[in-house]
Amino acid sequence: MATRLEGSKWIWKDGDFIAWEDATLHLLSTAVQFGTSMFEGIRCYNGPSGPAIFRLDSHLERLIHSCKIYRMVPAHSTETLTQACKDLVSRNELGDCYIRPMVLRGYGSAGLDPAASPIETYVAAWNWGTYLGEEALEEGVDVCVSSWNRPAPNTFPVQAKAAGHYNNAQLVKMEALVNGYAEAIVLGPSGIVSEGSGQNLFLVRRGVLICPALEGTALRGITRDAILTLAGDAGLEVCLESVAREDLYTADELFFTGTASEVTPIRSVDRIPVGKGKAGPITLELQRSFLAIAKGEAEDPHGWLTPVN
Ligand SMILES: Cc1ncc(COP(=O)(O)O)c(C=O)c1O
Repeated sequence: MATRLEGSKWIWKDGDFIAWEDATLHLLSTAVQFGTSMFEGIRCYNGPSGPAIFRLDSHLERLIHSCKIYRMVPAHSTETLTQACKDLVSRNELGDCYIRPMVLRGYGSAGLDPAASPIETYVAAWNWGTYLGEEALEEGVDVCVSSWNRPAPNTFPVQAKAAGHYNNAQLVKMEALVNGYAEAIVLGPSGIVSEGSGQNLFLVRRGVLICPALEGTALRGITRDAILTLAGDAGLEVCLESVAREDLYTADELFFTGTASEVTPIRSVDRIPVGKGKAGPITLELQRSFLAIAKGEAEDPHGWLTPVN
């Protein structure tokens, strides 16, 4: 069953807090007509010292970069957006939650030149549990290789998190679910492994952590970067390389990383078991160290947490 969004009370809009129900757009806004909305997905964890936002700086930097790619000049500074995220969580009395900043083109232009459509900035936040199901983090998920590909480089700029790009991701996700899988791994246009519908991917082969190179088709994920850092801290051998579809079937371990999915083991691909068909030891160790820092249960040596209060 699809999870329905559980609303909260307030949404930040261009410096003001407005009621959740009042955060509406005109039907003919450019964001609705053409998907021109740059967004982020950020998690806030309710740790022992209160709620703290994970890698807020990196997410806001990527949001500003998405805007730059789409020639949108953001109306607010990073400092303002940082404060908006923190204030929003506390005003909504949220603990563990998901934060969604959006910079979009509103109502004005009729056609494809969006210049007459004002740039509007919103931040929403709501309670959201595990993305791929409660048991997925421990037991892993069954995935397929999608029949859809990621867009070719220099078509949709994949380093921009733009709403319109996620029609491709929805095709991938819906096909996987209809066929009885939790998720899908998507190949790039040349047939090389790219990423999941909204996750990056890692493999483990003979004790080496393999991270698929971005190849201009995968998002430079912030969780991916965190896992590369934690793997370095743990002294793991790490290799960035091109990954072929068949490498997925013969990997010892496979896992997804993403803000929503956190670190989710993959136990089969196209019904072929990955390794022993359950979460592997390197996956579980990286997941443990990642979640311990994110949840404020371990030291934060890289300064990844921004306390809300
Ligand atoms: C297409 C895609 N790939 C990967 C990711 C993972 O990125 P991050 O770890 O920054 O959430 C996301 C989520 O934002 C995504 O949408």
